[in-house]
Amino acid sequence: MKPIPYGRQHIDQVDIDTVVATLKADFLTQGPKVSEFEEKFAAYVGAKYAVAVNNATSGLHISVLALDLKEGDRVITTSITFAASANCIRYAGAEVWFADIDPETYLLSIESVQQLIESKPKGFFKGIIPVDFAGLPVDLESFRALANKHDLWIIEDACHAPGGYFVDSKNKKQRCGNGSYADIGVFSFHPVKHIACGEGGMVTTNSKTLYKKLSLLRSHGITKENMQENHGGWFYEMQELGFNYRLTDIQSALGITQLAKNDIGVIRRNEISTRYKEAFNNKIKFQSLPIGAYNAHHLFVIEVNDRKGLYDYLRKQNVFAQIHYIPVHTLPYYKNIGYGSANLSSTELYYENCISLPMYPTLTKEEQSFVIEKVISFING
Ligand SMILES: Cc1ncc(COP(=O)(O)O)c(C=O)c1O
Repeated sequence: MKPIPYGRQHIDQVDIDTVVATLKADFLTQGPKVSEFEEKFAAYVGAKYAVAVNNATSGLHISVLALDLKEGDRVITTSITFAASANCIRYAGAEVWFADIDPETYLLSIESVQQLIESKPKGFFKGIIPVDFAGLPVDLESFRALANKHDLWIIEDACHAPGGYFVDSKNKKQRCGNGSYADIGVFSFHPVKHIACGEGGMVTTNSKTLYKKLSLLRSHGITKENMQENHGGWFYEMQELGFNYRLTDIQSALGITQLAKNDIGVIRRNEISTRYKEAFNNKIKFQSLPIGAYNAHHLFVIEVNDRKGLYDYLRKQNVFAQIHYIPVHTLPYYKNIGYGSANLSSTELYYENCISLPMYPTLTKEEQSFVIEKVISFING
């Protein structure tokens, strides 16, 4: 069997032709493809506005800044995520407070968040960054109710979840990143994610004020709008200390064709997930699916007792499973600033047992059968 990774991009001839056409066009960066991608992405997730950025880490950074996060402020997130979900809080000089996960969904536990909030005086926290981990949408309706009670903002880290949704109490489908309950949603277009741009990201919101701030921060804080002075056609103002976090036209062209295929990809990911679940049912624990939720399935995670044994065994069989994630609070940077001893029992237990199996639209039936057979034979000893 040839090597089977845990995830991989799918680039076809349409993607290649579109990128080549963009290379021959007038703009390589900040041309028409960026705004086309933004408009199509906003329409896809059902948000009013979308701001394309050079990766999701930049997107998270400008999101916390747009929400006015300052040095010494405090924000709650999960430790079962990629470090960037927490790092954006540190970029603003603020404190990360990790709450525990739900042991069945692996998502940030609302009970744990609530306990943390209620153990502190009002105003102690500024916001919450829940993550649609593995592609499973967070119940943002419940998080919104909690956030409203305590005057907090919400950034939905939807990097794993374009195309995922949950159904709210009004029986309405709420697509990840649609901005109905979270203030801002952030997506990644890293190659292992659903939509591959090489590097890339998108920030979505329904707030015009946030949209304007995000757009300014993405591009040096420079604008030609609402200027204090105007010396002529060349004139611009730098109104904020912003960054160069722009996505190029070349990447946006690829993003547009990739986005067009996302629904098909998510359907295929769900077929793969169904097959894993049928094979593992009652034998192996996997991420549960709350009623009404549609998992976009960036990952398929199982829990096993001898996780390292399974990881090593699969590698010998050319199956490159992966671990998502080493808890962020145990990474040396966070340990060194005092986080290592956080009491997150479900997070720690999950990390001991978790392993992500291959999950990507072009995984063949034969490859998946091979993976299933190897996992089951390892479990059966
Ligand atoms: C949950 C999560 N948040 C943020 C990021 C950062 O994304 P990017 O690599 O586009 O900066 C990732 C990427 O791995 C991620 O998985």
